[in-house]
Amino acid sequence: MTQATPLLFDFAPFVGHSERYVDLIKQFAAAQAFRSAEVSELVLDDDYHRRPLRPEDFEFLKFAKPVRTHNVSRLPSLAANRTLLSIYELGVARLPRTMDRVEWARFGDFYRDDVQVQGAQIAPFLEAYAFEYLVQDTAQDTAQTLDALATAARLSNLVEAESAFWDQTFARLLRNDYLEEGLRFIMVQRWALAPSKRHALTRAAASGLFDMLPAALRPALDGGEANAALYERVAASCGVTRQQHAYWQFYLPTSLAKCNLLYALARRPDRAFGLVGAAFAAEAEWLAFSAALERACAHLKPAGRPANDAQSRQAALVARFAQALQSIGDIHGTNAYAQTVQGLAAAERLCERARWDLGEQLLWLSSIRRYVAFAHRISTRIDAECPDIDRETFVEPLEMCSTTHVHNDHRLVTIQEGEMLFWGNVGMQLKMNVGDMVLIPDGRLHGSTVLSGECTYHQPIIPDDWVQALVAELDAQAPA
Ligand SMILES: [Fe+2]
Repeated sequence: MTQATPLLFDFAPFVGHSERYVDLIKQFAAAQAFRSAEVSELVLDDDYHRRPLRPEDFEFLKFAKPVRTHNVSRLPSLAANRTLLSIYELGVARLPRTMDRVEWARFGDFYRDDVQVQGAQIAPFLEAYAFEYLVQDTAQDTAQTLDALATAARLSNLVEAESAFWDQTFARLLRNDYLEEGLRFIMVQRWALAPSKRHALTRAAASGLFDMLPAALRPALDGGEANAALYERVAASCGVTRQQHAYWQFYLPTSLAKCNLLYALARRPDRAFGLVGAAFAAEAEWLAFSAALERACAHLKPAGRPANDAQSRQAALVARFAQALQSIGDIHGTNAYAQTVQGLAAAERLCERARWDLGEQLLWLSSIRRYVAFAHRISTRIDAECPDIDRETFVEPLEMCSTTHVHNDHRLVTIQEGEMLFWGNVGMQLKMNVGDMVLIPDGRLHGSTVLSGECTYHQPIIPDDWVQALVAELDAQAPA
């Protein structure tokens, strides 16, 4: 019988100390690079050194109760993950775009020592906060026997779950006539964040975290040159042509979390085995995405590319993982094996949550006209059933811009006076005038800006059962 493996992430040591860490987060987020976005910064000008964090949110976010499975798409999770990626990439060099003096000053400012030190102080807290749920109740996994084949087969299940998700997603996007826009959002989540994931693994390899495995048995995320050409063509076809993080505001919290999980493990030599498990899962997920993209965008396949060999690549991946697990168990023992499985389990759980989060966002975006119609029906129901509802009225000046964010409940946005531009995807522009309204479900990423001299709008909270009843109509009408 082995000793219980310590959890990869544990919030217990931080319980009761959140206030202190929130103070540190506020100090960190006060750096220029992290201020909220302006209207012109909806898509950043290939500016790696600019990462809007909405520091004003840290005035009310408490970070007292860690993220759980049901609230991965909410504001605390989004804020924690945006902050974590900002911290990790303070160690990634991106040179100034020009020789300009101001540009050089910003470049130096981004990598300042005091910001690095503050980041290092808050990272363990935010990691435990954002990731504890991924490793909770995994005792069953870690107590299992050293069955490398059975454990490795879990990667097949992951590839299949991801593939099924992509096929359903692309079918829905086609049905809703939202394929190009949907692909744009998907490429931002997957393609634009891939270099960060690769960087985390490269950094880990350079630090010796994969030294327990021979090169041929290590997890990798490159996907080959042929795949790179396909991604680039697909991204270009839907307008995703800027450099990494230009679309910073459109990353979902779970997309950021997948990247951050690798970074968090990669910077901790004592969790090297956990990283192996998580990195193999990331490779499986990438394989499923590549194959699905190739099926959905067959017309963009580079000339001379061989037919999809996803099946054989999947089999090779599972066999490699089985060998890696066997070797880890044989040479490093049961604790190392158990930590590898814990990393795998964390990544599996995160992939499931990310499928849900992205699926919900794409459902909303691709059905936005229906959500406008739902909003009108909700408004009528409010007038009839609860005319005294708290309407939470806001008055905002011209060009007042909200950095993309999410709400912890369903909101109905209604314009009383003025004009507003509303978005939830790169390039989306829902123009809202007096009397216009839209329903924003709990956890859906969005932002807006005021186009008129002033804009007065309401955003009352809508009960969950009202929204569920309406959303059920979307699926009821979908063809089998
Ligand atoms: Fe909002």
